[in-house]
Amino acid sequence: MSTTLIAADPVLEVRNLCVDYGLGEDAVHGVTDATLTLRRGEVLGLAGESGSGKSTLAYALTRLLRAPGVITGGEVLFHNRPQGSATTETVDLLAADAAKLRQIRWSQLAVVFQSAMHALNPVARVDAQLTDVLKAHRKQMTPAQRRERAVELLRMVGISEDRLRSYPHELSGGMRQRVMIAMALALEPQIVIMDEPTTALDVVTQREILEELMQLRERLGFSIIFITHDLSLLIELADSIAIMYAGRLVERAGANELFHTPRHPYSLGLLNSFPALHGDRIRMEGIPGSPPSLTALPGGCAFHPRCAFAMDRCGSETPRLERPQRDDSSGNRKDGEERLAACWLQDGRQSPPAPLAIGLSAPAAERPGQGIPSQETPGHENHGLESQGLENNGLESNGHEITGSDR
Ligand SMILES: Nc1ncnc2c1ncn2[C@@H]1O[C@H](COP(=O)(O)OP(=O)(O)O)[C@@H](O)[C@H]1O
Ligand code: SF4
Ligand SMILES: [Mg+2]
Repeated sequence: MSTTLIAADPVLEVRNLCVDYGLGEDAVHGVTDATLTLRRGEVLGLAGESGSGKSTLAYALTRLLRAPGVITGGEVLFHNRPQGSATTETVDLLAADAAKLRQIRWSQLAVVFQSAMHALNPVARVDAQLTDVLKAHRKQMTPAQRRERAVELLRMVGISEDRLRSYPHELSGGMRQRVMIAMALALEPQIVIMDEPTTALDVVTQREILEELMQLRERLGFSIIFITHDLSLLIELADSIAIMYAGRLVERAGANELFHTPRHPYSLGLLNSFPALHGDRIRMEGIPGSPPSLTALPGGCAFHPRCAFAMDRCGSETPRLERPQRDDSSGNRKDGEERLAACWLQDGRQSPPAPLAIGLSAPAAERPGQGIPSQETPGHENHGLESQGLENNGLESNGHEITGSDR
């Protein structure tokens, strides 16, 4: 966790972002009314099952969305303060023209997309690909300076200089992904958006890369939006977390709060989908059913067909993302950010069921299927990735009995 989080100012504010695929009555709502804040130096995690709209959100806010995707509303405010500058310029990325976007993308806001390691040019050597970025954006650099910087960037992500002359096919998947991360960091951006950057890698490589990434973030001070279907991973990495379901954000909280006191049944289900590393064999609860197709969303709260706590109104009325009422354990975060949940259980008309009501810090270890990654507060004191989060993919463990020794 960033030690600067408490006083950190926002670097990116996404407000009421809406994205459709297609037009008119047949339009599919890929993202509905998403509001998020990324603070300087913070890791903001975005989690949700496959198809929940995470990548759509990332493409839309960087204006990289392709047809039939259409941004139908909202604003994305980038508070641009380049390194060494004392002044901040606020740019609405959704209103920015092509020249402005070119100036900001990569230099100030870099993206590592899903399967990015396949995005390297297969017929160009690593050094050519790294120096090309510098040639395009740092015209004042001499060829020798560019080469020196390329070596430095590779070292930064744990690759030795002798790989500079390699072609992508001569590198392992992990190395290719490291090169992509080096390219994203080449121009010292303020924000890096990473969409499932390590999902295709084995867990050991994933762990190594993420550890390096967190060290780089500490050193260079950039902010990260880290997108994954693996909530257990985010609990360790992120400062704050947003949970997405069927195109909507359904809960926002600090990583620690989300882990100990989830307020949305879907967040609780995701947390209960990954096993403890230690302890007795336990039955994983998981989430019954599968995510809905956005072309045929259930009415009301889209989660209601899978929700163990659903009430009558859940099938017809859509809850807004609001501060849980009757909630004395989850007030404003230390950085001033409110925690929010989109669930009728939290509207104050009734007492929410125990797992979604009280602070769960003590009973969390007793929750079915819920293990605490370490003795430290997850996501905050523990950023060494030394606990179980990287060793299992929670969403794959639904319904299975697993113990640490099984793995
Ligand atoms: N090109 C497209 N055309 C139509 N619908 C799309 C397209 N891309 C994505 N979608 C819709 O948006 C949903 C969310 O996709 P995506 O943002 O990729 O989810 P995630 O990244 O969370 O897995 C998909 O389930 C699909 O219904
Ligand atoms: S609004 Fe109803 S269906 Fe939706 S998550 Fe809350 S209790 Fe479950
Ligand atoms: Mg995706």
